[in-house]
Amino acid sequence: MKDFSITLDFAKQLDADDKLASFRDLFLLHDPNLIYLDGNSLGVLPKSAQQKAREVVDEQWGKDLIRGWNKGWWEAPVRIGDKLGQIIGASAGQVLVTDSVSLNLFKLATSALTLQPNKKRIITDTFNFPSDLYILQGINQNLGNGHEIIRIGASDNDITPDISALESAINENTALVTLSHVVFKSGYIYDIQRITELAHSKGALVLWDLSHSVGSVPIELDQCNADFAIGCTYKYLNGGPGAPAFLYVNKNIQDKLSSPIWGWWGQKNPFDFDLDYRPADGAQRFLAGTQPMLSMLIMEAGIEPTLQAGMQALREKSILMTDYAVYLTENLLAQYGFTLGSPAASSQRGSHISIRHAEGYRINRALIEEMNVIPDFRAPDNLRLGFAPLYISFADVWEGFDRIRKVMEEKLYEKYPKQKLMVT
Ligand SMILES: Cc1ncc(COP(=O)(O)O)c(C=O)c1O
Repeated sequence: MKDFSITLDFAKQLDADDKLASFRDLFLLHDPNLIYLDGNSLGVLPKSAQQKAREVVDEQWGKDLIRGWNKGWWEAPVRIGDKLGQIIGASAGQVLVTDSVSLNLFKLATSALTLQPNKKRIITDTFNFPSDLYILQGINQNLGNGHEIIRIGASDNDITPDISALESAINENTALVTLSHVVFKSGYIYDIQRITELAHSKGALVLWDLSHSVGSVPIELDQCNADFAIGCTYKYLNGGPGAPAFLYVNKNIQDKLSSPIWGWWGQKNPFDFDLDYRPADGAQRFLAGTQPMLSMLIMEAGIEPTLQAGMQALREKSILMTDYAVYLTENLLAQYGFTLGSPAASSQRGSHISIRHAEGYRINRALIEEMNVIPDFRAPDNLRLGFAPLYISFADVWEGFDRIRKVMEEKLYEKYPKQKLMVT
């Protein structure tokens, strides 16, 4: 790890050396005093997306009307999917932009299980995003409850999954291994290549949820021979609130799969209006119905800064930021009872860190309501700090930590109720 210092001057020097510093100007950051550490939940509005929103509404919807479908709307899920493929190491024809992460998991996992009716094991972990676990439980019920869902727990520190338990749980009866590449609380990052190879050696398929890694960690789905992936575009990709998610299906298995939702967008020739379903070729069979064109096209513009910056440069800055944040946690905040809730080694974490404190929830409220700092809180005690490398400066990181220090020094959190708001 680099030699850091706790001075603001040091943070400014890091900014002076930052090759990505100019990317900040591509985003609308209205309030210069706001320290936004939640780009891992909802990315900031790119100016390109703002401009696109106006154009899509005024020109495309406003003037083209239904002609828009023949001017690039119909192909948008595939076109934008191919662009997004550049960010996740997927060659053309394997990524579609569509639906939500939860729905895409439902479609792909159901399809993977139906392909292997004699294998009854689904392996996941307790670090996975709860929606993913609920979707798996629902699928199991729909398929007759014949599957065993195994949730691998933590190693002894609650930060890292028990990798040896995971490895020994994957056996010849395993149909599907499905995990979050970067886990949402601790930020632990799985080795896609290693787990995929292991699963394949036992004949299992693998599905990765990339929601917390896409746009901040380089991913090579083709090289790793991953079977499936899903992920959202509203976090590090800055696609906008509720922007469509994506799915990846490896070209080697596409034509063996059947979607559990047979809609007309997944039909081979939808405008023949055949009365019987025939699946479209390749991944397109995983489309179901009409796509939300406004948010899809805004998202297409929103991912431009990520494509321009390139994943290697983004990862380098992200590692420097999270290393710096770990340093500030240890040197500025440990005295107030904070402990690191993320792996200490940068190679083992994504672009957010969790810092743990028994009063984490109330500290989060004080930061948002009095300090103009926006992190988020994940029960039971994680104050989660996201470092989006496209628009966060090192001075922001320093300032964010200094304001947390003030909240602790002046015990500002004590006036907030322990009762939680709906969204934390
Ligand atoms: C890792 C992960 N998976 C799945 C989801 C659910 O995504 P969606 O609400 O788009 O279905 C989220 C949402 O934040 C997430 O972080």
